[in-house]
Amino acid sequence: MFDYQAQPNCLQNKTILVTGAGAGIGRAAALNYAKFGATVVLLGKTVEKLEQVYDEIVNLGYPEPAIIPLDMKGATAQHYKDMVSTIVGQLKHIDGALLNASILGELTPFTQISAQIWQDVMQVNLNAQMQLAQALIPTMTQSNSASLIFTTSGVGNQGRAFWGPYSISKFATEGMMQVIADEYEGSSLRVNAINPGATKTSMRATAFPAEDKSLIAEAEDIMPLYLYLMSDDSKAVNGQRLNAQ
Ligand SMILES: NC(=O)c1ccc[n+]([C@@H]2O[C@H](COP(=O)([O-])OP(=O)(O)OC[C@H]3O[C@@H](n4cnc5c(N)ncnc54)[C@H](OP(=O)(O)O)[C@@H]3O)[C@@H](O)[C@H]2O)c1
Repeated sequence: MFDYQAQPNCLQNKTILVTGAGAGIGRAAALNYAKFGATVVLLGKTVEKLEQVYDEIVNLGYPEPAIIPLDMKGATAQHYKDMVSTIVGQLKHIDGALLNASILGELTPFTQISAQIWQDVMQVNLNAQMQLAQALIPTMTQSNSASLIFTTSGVGNQGRAFWGPYSISKFATEGMMQVIADEYEGSSLRVNAINPGATKTSMRATAFPAEDKSLIAEAEDIMPLYLYLMSDDSKAVNGQRLNAQ
């Protein structure tokens, strides 16, 4: 596991957007960012899940979060621009964004990938990430220390049979991360990608229904890297693909 001990309040006064914040790894990251002092903006598809995370954060006495229910499958570039304007209008700045939401699509032989699955996976896992990044960067570069984190996978730099659309979308995500990181090298914005590794979530259960779940990391276990890349301790880290495990 990535080794990092976050200092209490290391994210104080930071506003951090987390996509896919209602479940799995995104939920754990949102709770941890709030625990270490950030005001978290919870973006996700299912309102009830976001409300549960909101309640958990408030009940724990952490800074009150904001909720943005949005289906990234149907959202346009304008939705993300409007979202950033709304966040800046209410919370003034955006210092971090964890682009975590993704879909698996279907595990299937390459010749049998359906056009619809290909389009859905590319829309959520790639196009939406690009539109989000475009909307976020002008505001994030105004922060004196901003961290943009993409989410990749073990199949994001090594292809694997039957993982077609998902794997290819993650390769492209890593490419996008490298392009943006190179453009902003030397600026106050750093851009990196996390490979979470096998983690006990509903996506993992769908991909590996028969595996022994007691051998898989909990989302909470992989949080040190998520905290490190969001804290100012990682100010000098840019353009990297980092393994949480
Ligand atoms: N778990 C692993 O072992 C593993 C390994 C490698 C990489 N990853 C990556 O880690 C990230 C998190 O995965 P996870 O395992 O936590 O997945 P998960 O449990 O399936 O959670 C995915 C999150 O994304 C949200 N989401 C999905 N489609 C969306 C849409 N159209 N619009 C808005 N939000 C949407 C979901 O919201 P709803 O619940 O409301 O649908 C959910 O909150 C993903 O990028 C995944 O590729 C995970």
